[in-house]
Amino acid sequence: MAKLIDGKQVSARVKEQVRLETEKLKQIHGIQPGLAVVIVGNDPASRVYVNNKKKACETVGFRSYEYALPEETTQAQLLELVETLNADSNVNGILVQLPVPPQIDDKAVINAISPEKDVDAFHPANVGKIMIGDYAFLPCTPAGVMELLASTGVEIAGKRCVVIGRSNIVGKPMAMLLLHKSGTVTVCHSRTVDLPSVTKEADILVAAVGKANFVTADMVKEGAIVIDVGMNRLENGKLCGDVAFEEVSAKASWITPVPGGVGPMTIAMLMRNTLTAAMTQNGVEVKL
Ligand code: GUN
Repeated sequence: MAKLIDGKQVSARVKEQVRLETEKLKQIHGIQPGLAVVIVGNDPASRVYVNNKKKACETVGFRSYEYALPEETTQAQLLELVETLNADSNVNGILVQLPVPPQIDDKAVINAISPEKDVDAFHPANVGKIMIGDYAFLPCTPAGVMELLASTGVEIAGKRCVVIGRSNIVGKPMAMLLLHKSGTVTVCHSRTVDLPSVTKEADILVAAVGKANFVTADMVKEGAIVIDVGMNRLENGKLCGDVAFEEVSAKASWITPVPGGVGPMTIAMLMRNTLTAAMTQNGVEVKL
């Protein structure tokens, strides 16, 4: 039976560390980090995420600024807001919640955010830095997964790592972070032939597919570490991951639950990135 990787506990530890560092930053340097969160339209899931981000800011002692724009906002209006936030020295981090409505090109928005304030690490300049291992920020979800893996005490170097999903937000950066830790990494996707034969090789399996209960026990090696990035809403309203939790936990050595696994980590890492941004922008040495 797999041991549970407790994302609530690990995220609480990260947030507590950020809170203490923030207190010091205020006392010694008179700086309070600020995060601006922009949401366009009325997507209910995005609304929940944004509220959780605001709550986390309060917990760690940041200022948070919310900009809730109507569904019909034009790209020019959103870019103008981003420019204003880029120029505002009280704002250290800028996050535009994705997805944005179809009249807005998300790439144009990401490109407009100053790379120093890009706490999602979505800007091409930051993506390039991740590629060469010389980064200021890591994208929040993959960074959170790395913290969860570290909490198991299991060494990544030399392990077979399989990532299912190749999105820019999770799959691709996830593969790169595992590679930086000397894992042997394979990225699978919708065109992968005989997916189970690949996933069964994995010592560390990360599922970021977006399909409920997609990873079944027959796809998992005995004793694997299984990380579930999925967050799927079932018809009965229940949240469910990409991994068939009951059957896979009978085979894995470690597994993340949904909810309470990767989800809380994403927000904790956003707090850490915002603190890093505030320190860097004020010339304070970052030692996290
Ligand atoms: N939508 C889903 N996940 C994310 C995220 O990590 N950042 C932003 N900005 N939007 C998202």
